[in-house]
Amino acid sequence: MSNILDDQAALAALDSLGGLRALWGLPEQCADAFRLPDGVTIPEAGALSNVVVSGLGGSAIGGDLLRVWAADRMAVPVTVNRDYRLPAFVGEDSLVFCVSYSGNTEETLAAYADAREKGARTVVLTSGGRLKEMAAGDGVSVITVPAGISPRSATGYLFLPMLKVLYRLGLVADPDREMRELVAHLAGVREEIGPAVPGDGNPAKQLARRLFGKLPVIWGVSGTTEVVAMRFKGQINENAKAPAYWSVLPELNHNEINGIEGPDNVLKLLSVVFLRDPGDHPRVGLRVDITRRIIAGKVDVTELTARGIGRLARTYDLVYRGDYTSVYLAALYGVDPGPVPVIERLKKELAGL
Ligand code: F6R
Repeated sequence: MSNILDDQAALAALDSLGGLRALWGLPEQCADAFRLPDGVTIPEAGALSNVVVSGLGGSAIGGDLLRVWAADRMAVPVTVNRDYRLPAFVGEDSLVFCVSYSGNTEETLAAYADAREKGARTVVLTSGGRLKEMAAGDGVSVITVPAGISPRSATGYLFLPMLKVLYRLGLVADPDREMRELVAHLAGVREEIGPAVPGDGNPAKQLARRLFGKLPVIWGVSGTTEVVAMRFKGQINENAKAPAYWSVLPELNHNEINGIEGPDNVLKLLSVVFLRDPGDHPRVGLRVDITRRIIAGKVDVTELTARGIGRLARTYDLVYRGDYTSVYLAALYGVDPGPVPVIERLKKELAGL
């Protein structure tokens, strides 16, 4: 296997869109993201029944992060919509965040129009494009995120401004302390797993080597690490251009786990990564332990446990470790983590180009 992971010049040369640079800047991005809504007028929140985040891919994951973060703090539900149409329950008592990094994703543009038609209070989160133009024309609140990075590198920008909006509307307590914990924690994590740290002392490089040549299967836990599992899988797909799958406990204990009785030649391709959190329900923690014992010896298994004090720090602790691992895996495969030509092709063909 190549030693590219410890050759910083070679890593940078492969990374045409500066994904590693953006990743290094995540703590600063998070701090910046939290300030973005300052000065933006937000529609009044009186008598809200629900919050919906509408977006796709890298612009939707922030909605899921919000959904999990808010689950035990907000009196109204957060729903994530990855479609052209919004659910029928959306109406004048809804707050809809329309999120598209490029501002040109057709599903999100259609969902924006639907939100307007349904009379929902709407906030747009974008770096520009048609979405920003439409919102400006309609007098809808726009939080503008900096352009020039890929949507998946903008995970701070595409999530944290929503916390600030919810706080300003009185829907959640002030998350400022949790935010500061998050930024300080991530600044420490990058010193541990950034490109300058050699492979023998760098857990993200070691995990990338472990996943090399394997089919990664990321198993999270409902309500804590579930979104990170989805994110980690997506980052392997988009950065390393490799297949990966994800699922969650306890649900997978009721179906997917039976696959462990499958053919050895299939099982030996898998590498299972459990994502744990100190806040996991104790019974689910026990399920992870038992599940590990059941699959041990049949598939490769490892686990990552979230570190940090607050929920935000713990979530991004795992997001950051997964993100770095996926970029290192790209390097091991000799692929540029930046461009996503298959997504681009799909978008072009759909546009008739
Ligand atoms: C992530 C990525 C995709 C996009 C998705 C939607 O880096 O490239 O997952 O996020 O195709 O596009 P945007 O985010 O521009 O609405």
